[in-house]
Amino acid sequence: MKNVSNQKGSVFEKSSIQALEVSSRRVVVITGSSSGIGKSTAIAFAAAGWQVVATMRNPSSEAELRMIPNVDVLPLDVTNISSINAVFESVWQRFGRIDTLVNNAGYGLMGPFEETSPESIAKQFETNVFGLMNVTRAALPYMRAQRFGRIVNISSIGGRLGIPLYSSYHATKFAVEGFTESLNYELKPFGIDAILIEPGAISTEFLGRSADIAKPQEGSQYRSYFDRVYASFEKASKGGARPDVVAKKIVEVAQTKSPALRNPVGGGAEFLMAARKVLPDCAVHSLVKQQTRG
Ligand SMILES: NC(=O)c1ccc[n+]([C@@H]2O[C@H](COP(=O)([O-])OP(=O)(O)OC[C@H]3O[C@@H](n4cnc5c(N)ncnc54)[C@H](OP(=O)(O)O)[C@@H]3O)[C@@H](O)[C@H]2O)c1
Repeated sequence: MKNVSNQKGSVFEKSSIQALEVSSRRVVVITGSSSGIGKSTAIAFAAAGWQVVATMRNPSSEAELRMIPNVDVLPLDVTNISSINAVFESVWQRFGRIDTLVNNAGYGLMGPFEETSPESIAKQFETNVFGLMNVTRAALPYMRAQRFGRIVNISSIGGRLGIPLYSSYHATKFAVEGFTESLNYELKPFGIDAILIEPGAISTEFLGRSADIAKPQEGSQYRSYFDRVYASFEKASKGGARPDVVAKKIVEVAQTKSPALRNPVGGGAEFLMAARKVLPDCAVHSLVKQQTRG
């Protein structure tokens, strides 16, 4: 077993000593596996023969993934550092390798910026940006020690394209894009890639249970605008791609020797990201305005 160390202490060395053997299966750790893209991704990796560590905030309510022999379900909240460290220590001890990390956990804060509280915006960044960074920081000493690894960050078309009423959410996904693009350089010498998945509209709990909606009150000047645009989102979400389309792409990039940095997938993402590249901003804005009635 290779020695694992970082500047902060001996916790990783201790883990490496206790690791009994190295799994013959490739190992993936996924955050936010209780539903949607995360759950589909856990199922897809398991079907491809990987050892899956499906993490979630409330594992006690998970039944489906527990039925799959090569899936372990563990508690992890991306805003809780000790829960994150506990997962990586345990994975290292049990399997002795961490091939891929899928940073999927996230949710969408929606509403007019002016009517969104600073606390809601801070919480949105705590999960979508700082949470993703927390998990990445915990995985890296192990990946550096084994001299390989792939970090797959779930961004969005909203990481390269702003749509109305999602200013805070898009700010987090733009942050994830910049973070990942920069990180990729400094990890390459260790044999580690950091890459982006950019889903379009996907039918999940994103607009349901996972949405934090700052709906303008009656009398707000934003109210009729909000109602109109929100109706367009509901329509797009119902017609969105299935989460297993995204899951398939994630497994594909995890198994590809040299994946692209950016990987748009599903719900019109490929078309929109190609359009973003070639069209001027004014043309992209007209397209978004037309689609969202914004
Ligand atoms: N659906 C789309 O149209 C779409 C498009 C582009 C990008 N995305 C991105 O795809 C990712 C997955 O979203 P989804 O569409 O699959 O929605 P989803 O079904 O609502 O899944 C979101 C997952 O994130 C988890 N989560 C939230 N906060 C967490 C935290 N603090 N710690 C750990 N887990 C946490 C949720 O766990 P709980 O069960 O505990 O709440 C849930 O498992 C997100 O990053 C989202 O931004 C989605």
